Amino acid sequence: MCGIVGAAARRDVQGILIEGLRRLEYRGYDSAGLAVLDPDSGIQRQREVGKVAALEEAVGSNPPSGHLGIAHTRWATHGKPSAANAHPHMSGERLAVVHNGIIENFEPLRDQLRNDGYTFTSETDTEVLAHLIAREYANAGDLVTGFHNAVSQVEGAYALAVLHADEPETLLVARQGSPLVIGVGIGEHFVASDQLALLPVTDRFIYLAEGDTALVRAESVTITDASGQRVERPINRFEHSADAAEKGNYRHFMLKEIHEQPDVIEATLQGRVTESRVLEQALGTEASRLLGEVRHVQIVACGTSFHAGMVARYWIEELAGIPCSVEVASEFRYRSHVIQDGTLFLTISQSGETADTLAALRQARDAGFRAALAICNVPGSSLVRESDMVIMTHAGPEIGVASTKAFTTQLTALLMFTLALARHNGLSEAREAELVQALRAIPHQMRAIMDLDDSIKQLSQWFVDKHHSLFLGRGSLYPVAMEGALKLKEISYIHAEAYPAGELKHGPLALVDSEMPVVTVAPSNDLLEKLKSNLQEVRARGGELFVFADSETAMGDGEGTHVMTIPHTDPILAPLLCTVPLQLLSYHVAVLKGTDVDQPRNLAKSVTVE
Ligand code: G6P
Repeated sequence: MCGIVGAAARRDVQGILIEGLRRLEYRGYDSAGLAVLDPDSGIQRQREVGKVAALEEAVGSNPPSGHLGIAHTRWATHGKPSAANAHPHMSGERLAVVHNGIIENFEPLRDQLRNDGYTFTSETDTEVLAHLIAREYANAGDLVTGFHNAVSQVEGAYALAVLHADEPETLLVARQGSPLVIGVGIGEHFVASDQLALLPVTDRFIYLAEGDTALVRAESVTITDASGQRVERPINRFEHSADAAEKGNYRHFMLKEIHEQPDVIEATLQGRVTESRVLEQALGTEASRLLGEVRHVQIVACGTSFHAGMVARYWIEELAGIPCSVEVASEFRYRSHVIQDGTLFLTISQSGETADTLAALRQARDAGFRAALAICNVPGSSLVRESDMVIMTHAGPEIGVASTKAFTTQLTALLMFTLALARHNGLSEAREAELVQALRAIPHQMRAIMDLDDSIKQLSQWFVDKHHSLFLGRGSLYPVAMEGALKLKEISYIHAEAYPAGELKHGPLALVDSEMPVVTVAPSNDLLEKLKSNLQEVRARGGELFVFADSETAMGDGEGTHVMTIPHTDPILAPLLCTVPLQLLSYHVAVLKGTDVDQPRNLAKSVTVE
């Protein structure tokens, strides 16, 4: 989604703002802008359609100077991408605003403000904020009071940062439903919608809570909570190195993140498993009590995280013998629920800020679901703060819009959780030990899959000129096929559809011909022979097959059949290994097609609006 950066410093902030935007660009990227305040010359604003590089070029050799500034990268919601709709938005010449989220009551507010004589120059909901704050300031005669009065009239989800030429040392910020952090520097402060934006200038952050507003100056931060009380919020240190969010020697973030998977899975396992068992206490102090009470698991998530939840359903039902339901958050939140006793509500999210997932969690609480467990990658995120129990994935910052390492670390966390749950429900020590050992071997086996990179690159040529593709899987590999199809469509724009292989004959077979590559993952499990029959059905219709097969399947190349062998693992863990070649395949197809791999069109990394 959109990204916010702001700075109150003792030096020119324009460079900090542009670098911050560059780091946030993966979240949304149709236009960008900044406003810098110089006490003598006032606010200088620049806005450009396109990527941050376009803004940087426009700012060029004559950058605005000033110690106070705000900046924004936009992912359009109200109004098309255009310079007029890009942020910052201004009211007159002295007030500028950047905003993430959606103002739900922007229409009545705009009508009111028009009646009061304010003129609108954009189609955005954000411009309402600018004029609203200006009006309330004029009414109150004091900027801070006016700001609070304005914010109290706004409905919806927002994070915003404001500067006014009358207060040349102060940024006014607020958050409600969209993330905002304050970066604590030495004698200076920064704000951003994501801490990654600020890593070049600080590793210390204050996470604002829902409903907080703050006055941010170089030397001080004053926070007021939703009830109007002054509050102190703790300062947290960012755990990862600053270059965790850099591309290094890789051509794309996505490729780097695919290759990081063995390491980040090791990090996710670290301290949580012994040679033979999962350490329940490492899942949280409440874990033992909660797990013993679980009779049903309700998983809710979006996108790739939803696919991780779908895999977990197979695990939870098979290993723990507990019923599990999985649903996308945008559906879950808009229907009535029958709550079973002992239901654990489990959300999965890389960012911890996905609007639908957060809304589903809040709705679940209102509906009477008891305990909430989150599997999440971002410490301090809203989801983490609002859940009773959290298992952090240690994937590190994920920048590529197409999620890769977040998915496999989510699977790792979900399997640890399942094993702990299953122990309360009769899983034998011997079987747990087998699975823990197999899990510990996964990073090493994944490194072996990375060695297939060149061969997968060769295969990718088959896909470049295709418009459609089919991904097949059975059992817990069906969600892996869905994830593979999602990767291909996200970054190469090839239509990719996933089907449970047994369902092929009920429709999709009609589509199969030589122009429809069919991709499948074939671990050695109980369903292998059935899968092979499904593949025969494809071959009989002239479909070209691409099979990633476990070394124990003894499958080999044949006419129209390309088989690539991956290491064998326990069938339970096959989703972890089988995912990686599909990620590499999508990556190479996208590179060959010349698409923007890390920032595919129309998508955003973190969807913080509905
Ligand atoms: C967006 C991203 C996906 C991600 C989904 C859910 O659509 O582009 O990669 O899977 O949001 O995000 P979350 O942060 O909740 O896992």
